[in-house]
Amino acid sequence: MKTTTFEEYQAAYDKSVNDPEAFWADIAGHFQWRKPWDKVLEWNFEEPKIEWFKGAKLNITENALDRHLAERGEQPALIWEPNEPDDKAVTITYSQLHRRVCRFANVLKKHGVGKGDRVCIYLPMVPELAISVLACARIGAIHSVVFGGFSARSIADRINDAACTMVITSDGAFRGAKVIPMKETVDDALEKCSTVKDVIVMTRTRTPVSMLKGRDHWWEEEVKYVDADCPAEEMDAEDPLFILYTSGSTGKPKGVVHTCGGYMVYATYTFANVFQYEPGELHFCTADIGWITGHSYIVYGPLCYGATSLMFEGVPTYPDAGRFWEITEKHKVNILYTAPTAIRALICFGLQYVKDHDLSSLKKLGSVGEPINEEAWQWYKHNIGHDDTPLVDTWWQTETGGIMISSIAGVTPEKPTFATLPLPGVQPVLVDEAGKVIEGNGVSGNLCIKFPWPGMLRTTWGDHDRCQKTYFSAYPGMYFTGDGCLRDEDGMYRITGRVDDVINVSGHRIGTAEVENAINMHLGVVESAVVGYPHDIKGQGIYAYVITEKWPDEPEMMRKDIGATVARVIGPIARPDKVQFVTGLPKTRSGKIMRRILRKVAEGDTSNLGDTSTLLDPAVVEEIKDGAL
Ligand code: WTA
Repeated sequence: MKTTTFEEYQAAYDKSVNDPEAFWADIAGHFQWRKPWDKVLEWNFEEPKIEWFKGAKLNITENALDRHLAERGEQPALIWEPNEPDDKAVTITYSQLHRRVCRFANVLKKHGVGKGDRVCIYLPMVPELAISVLACARIGAIHSVVFGGFSARSIADRINDAACTMVITSDGAFRGAKVIPMKETVDDALEKCSTVKDVIVMTRTRTPVSMLKGRDHWWEEEVKYVDADCPAEEMDAEDPLFILYTSGSTGKPKGVVHTCGGYMVYATYTFANVFQYEPGELHFCTADIGWITGHSYIVYGPLCYGATSLMFEGVPTYPDAGRFWEITEKHKVNILYTAPTAIRALICFGLQYVKDHDLSSLKKLGSVGEPINEEAWQWYKHNIGHDDTPLVDTWWQTETGGIMISSIAGVTPEKPTFATLPLPGVQPVLVDEAGKVIEGNGVSGNLCIKFPWPGMLRTTWGDHDRCQKTYFSAYPGMYFTGDGCLRDEDGMYRITGRVDDVINVSGHRIGTAEVENAINMHLGVVESAVVGYPHDIKGQGIYAYVITEKWPDEPEMMRKDIGATVARVIGPIARPDKVQFVTGLPKTRSGKIMRRILRKVAEGDTSNLGDTSTLLDPAVVEEIKDGAL
């Protein structure tokens, strides 16, 4: 599956464009299928309808677990590093993981969960999270993992959208010095959910929790009384594997749907190839399984490839800013895959946290989630990668299922701040505002993909029309990513950030409309407008302009109150960094907010606000400029 020289990469790339079906059939040949496909690819981007490996039958857990048992049953599949450095790390071999997944799959079955049913998973970064995900896949249930930082309301929205019948959670979570309630949040969510019949609660923090008779069950009790044997459900390649909610420019988050066959092939292929994984290496992806990066590069990609994957429960700054390096030294991590926001945060703490640790085990570094600035890139490469360790900047999205544009570690060239070249099978194009394809190099435009790849989303749960409108209507015949992009003179791609109303805060995608809706729910708020602004550590921060019924008596208090409302409605990750009270917003005569102006003010660049003559009331611009935070 790997291309190990630049020439091989070029040959693979050419083949993937000239004969995509043959290219992907070759890759798919590395997996275990119960029945082979009738057709590699059928597609159109109009409806859209995308089918990979049609007619094939498989179960992804047979690829992630069963098929490794004979050869590497005793090899660690997962190594779990707990929040407290003094607590013991846990190693789970492939055969142990297989047994634990099968057992828990039987628990799900016992409660009536079956193929096609939706299960919501709200857990901290503990092995049970990976086990829950795989147990769902084992029996063909569709998992919907909700990141632990989301509020009760966000959980409820996601549960209701997918009509989940079960929730898997824990009593609480350890995150750095904090203990965070989980079950209690789920209980609050379930006040608004009628489809959930059972809740399985894993014990982590021993936080007292309410357990309702008939609905709530302890994980530890449940697994005692079931068989350790659970045959895998036979799935169609195009059956849904999971739903993962993500924010867009409008409305509520949408449930991106990935399917069994194509996702498996794509996540595994990109894992093996981008990181050039060698047997015995230890891969440490610092993401949370609540995001796509964790799905693809902690669980499915590594396990389907027979790799050893390290899962970390805590945060990079606990007990101090040396934690990643301590973990690297302790477990002899070979591949480190993290986010620019983490790197920038660690830079601020200084090199003293790095220098006492032996990082010589590191052979490959990766970055994901947001554009990586030059300073962070150089610091990472120099101080962590001792200059000679390949560093891959991987661009991709929840919707793409796996890495799309990235260098291949040690194989294709790197260029600081550039994701570089598309992987084999990926056909990027840049288009201008009018939808015209921009040819040649040294150009910028909106990033689209013109040909399907196996890991792409198939639909948005329960609303195919929304999928069509969001991704396939702006530029007919192409998938639109929502990102702006530069292709330099060498044909290298640099992602410049979102061109829609999505803010990328510490690598988390947040829709401005969602934050505005939450702010507008706050007592006394009339209207609001939210934009992103450059933030030294988070990449982007959230800047809110808020109109209130009457000017707040205690603006500082009101700001905090608004923050509390947003945290309650969406989750703490969406809390605005800055709230500026205003008496009006710059609107055009047709009532549209001119966000361009708001963005400029938030960025602190008020010298040239462009043409403001079309504004209904140009005077508000002066007020906004004067009150800028
Ligand atoms: C951004 C995360 C620049 C981009 C895997 C994309 C990046 C959004 C990079 C997807 C990168 C991700 N360089 N920008 N290497 N990786 N992005 O769905 O704006 O959480 O559209 O998936 O993050 O975020 P998501």
